[in-house]
Amino acid sequence: MIDQQAAGLFAPGRIGAIPVANRIAMAPLTRSRAGMDGVHTPLAIDYYRQRASAGLIVSEATNISRQGRGYALTPGIYTDAHVEAWRSVTEAVHEAGGRIVLQLWHVGRMSHTSLQAGGAAPVAPSAIQAGDTVFTERGPERPSMPRALETDEIPGIVEDYRRAAIRARDAGFDGVEVHAANCYLLEQFLRDSTNHRTDRYGGSRENRARLPIEVVQAVAAIWGADRVGLRLSPITRATGDTPLDSDPQGTYGYLAEQLGQLGLAYLHCVEGQTRGANAAAAFDFKALHAAFGGAYIANNSYTRELAIAAIDSGHADMVAFGRPFIANPDLVERLRRDAPLAEAAPETYYGGGAAGYTDFPALAAA
Ligand SMILES: Cc1cc2nc3c(=O)[nH]c(=O)nc-3n(C[C@H](O)[C@H](O)[C@H](O)COP(=O)(O)O)c2cc1C
Repeated sequence: MIDQQAAGLFAPGRIGAIPVANRIAMAPLTRSRAGMDGVHTPLAIDYYRQRASAGLIVSEATNISRQGRGYALTPGIYTDAHVEAWRSVTEAVHEAGGRIVLQLWHVGRMSHTSLQAGGAAPVAPSAIQAGDTVFTERGPERPSMPRALETDEIPGIVEDYRRAAIRARDAGFDGVEVHAANCYLLEQFLRDSTNHRTDRYGGSRENRARLPIEVVQAVAAIWGADRVGLRLSPITRATGDTPLDSDPQGTYGYLAEQLGQLGLAYLHCVEGQTRGANAAAAFDFKALHAAFGGAYIANNSYTRELAIAAIDSGHADMVAFGRPFIANPDLVERLRRDAPLAEAAPETYYGGGAAGYTDFPALAAA
């Protein structure tokens, strides 16, 4: 829990067991610049080091297993080479005074047979095909028809998260964030629109929340709950048109309450349609924060003014910025000075080299 005595967006504090220099987090940002084997190149070291003045960096989503991969050129955390590459990143961030947690990712149905071992079908709670786009070696493609996981395969998924958490620890991170947002595997289980199972992982909201909770418990057993966060996006349809849960407030509220009882470091919420307007009207995020009872990171189209208000009013303990961090490596300093922000070109968001990645200058020294 953040130390409330030191209020303000720029005040230091603590989130779970992690000390933070300010209340500005860098939101997780997939940049698709790793190798096809999921190993980062040295460019990623520069990229994260440049952004180390964030109070907390949440890494780009990182595949916990080959099966959990849905996009070419995204990093992994399931081989020794992945660990080595990430260790160079965490060391650079720490040398620059920053803190970084790894976002643990399994895409579930948002994958393609060409990305899976042996051309296998992606896995999901139920065999319902996603309408989104994933990136294969050939370019953008519709996700393949997934197959429903057998009940006895689910402990293996939890084990993949657990092993990834161990590797994240070996790579020197400050903690991990379980990615249960943006319509990937854990959110596919949570929503009744994508989970039509009849076993103990489907049906009631308690059953649909079971896998996310089991994953969090397994990961917390490695890290301690106070170094584990979780990300949710109750009302996003992601890049495709993934249907929402029939009762987002009830389903996500139940999960938040359970996570609070486990003593997680933080709950991180995308408040609205991811990358859409900052309009939380369709969902009561304050109620979600209250159900959780611990530290809360707010995200989605926040501006300087909205972020200051969110911290000062107690709505959030930290505010995460995504797109603004792409073109402003020194975002914290720019927000402190109320300086103008540079804009990134969306065509450089995913893939490529240094251009649009590590070539954004910091403000000239005053
Ligand atoms: C290029 C790009 C990549 C993203 N990758 C991830 C990701 O890996 N994991 C995740 O949870 N969200 C991801 N998001 C969503 C962002 O974390 C964030 O929720 C969204 O950009 C809204 O925040 P903003 O308005 O401050 O940019 C991504 C967004 C963008 C623009």
